[in-house]
Amino acid sequence: MSQNRSSADDGEVRVLGRPVAEFPAFAPEATRGRALRITVVGEEILHRPCRPVTEFGTEVLERLIYDMFATMYVAEGAGLAANQVDVDLRLFVYDCFDDDGVRHVGYIVNPVLDPVDLKLRNLVEADEGCLSVPGPRHALARNDTTIVRGADLRGGPLVIEGTGYFARCLQHEVDHLDGRLYIDRLTKDERRSVLDEMAELRDRVFVRRRERARDLGLPDLSDG
Ligand code: NI
Repeated sequence: MSQNRSSADDGEVRVLGRPVAEFPAFAPEATRGRALRITVVGEEILHRPCRPVTEFGTEVLERLIYDMFATMYVAEGAGLAANQVDVDLRLFVYDCFDDDGVRHVGYIVNPVLDPVDLKLRNLVEADEGCLSVPGPRHALARNDTTIVRGADLRGGPLVIEGTGYFARCLQHEVDHLDGRLYIDRLTKDERRSVLDEMAELRDRVFVRRRERARDLGLPDLSDG
């Protein structure tokens, strides 16, 4: 998911759901990663459910998380799912502010959203964008609180709670792993106008990503 704000401040930071005293502008994982090509709407891997991760504690999984952090920062994202770097596995990374200014950083493997009580839920409409639909943003209603349960790198249990824009991000990324983009939740006309806008903006977005990869000193393996 694309970012809703551009710079970090000195507020509270939670890593993997736990408060930390200090945290750098970019998660340390990113410095070990490479910027990969981000898949674009229409590519098959974005439009079908991803496979669950079954092997934990592997170097492959660790490297994938490094690469996903690097790729997310290069593309100025708030979240990134594995199928957005052409990998068919259920995990995503995030670095996202909620509406109270709390920064949330981490990843989760095999995430499952807690069911929402339809009588208690509070839908909030806000602008949303996606790194796989480069350029535009569009308003969409989402639940304003979310709980996601899954696993860490080694298979230990992980629970992430979000509110506001971070809750939106968690729902957006789980949607990705189910093969669904945010534009799939829009009306036909809205979807068409977002795709038209994307056609106009995407080349500029790709240039900006290449420049950022260079500025951040990250190996750039993207060709888009
Ligand atoms: Ni997205």
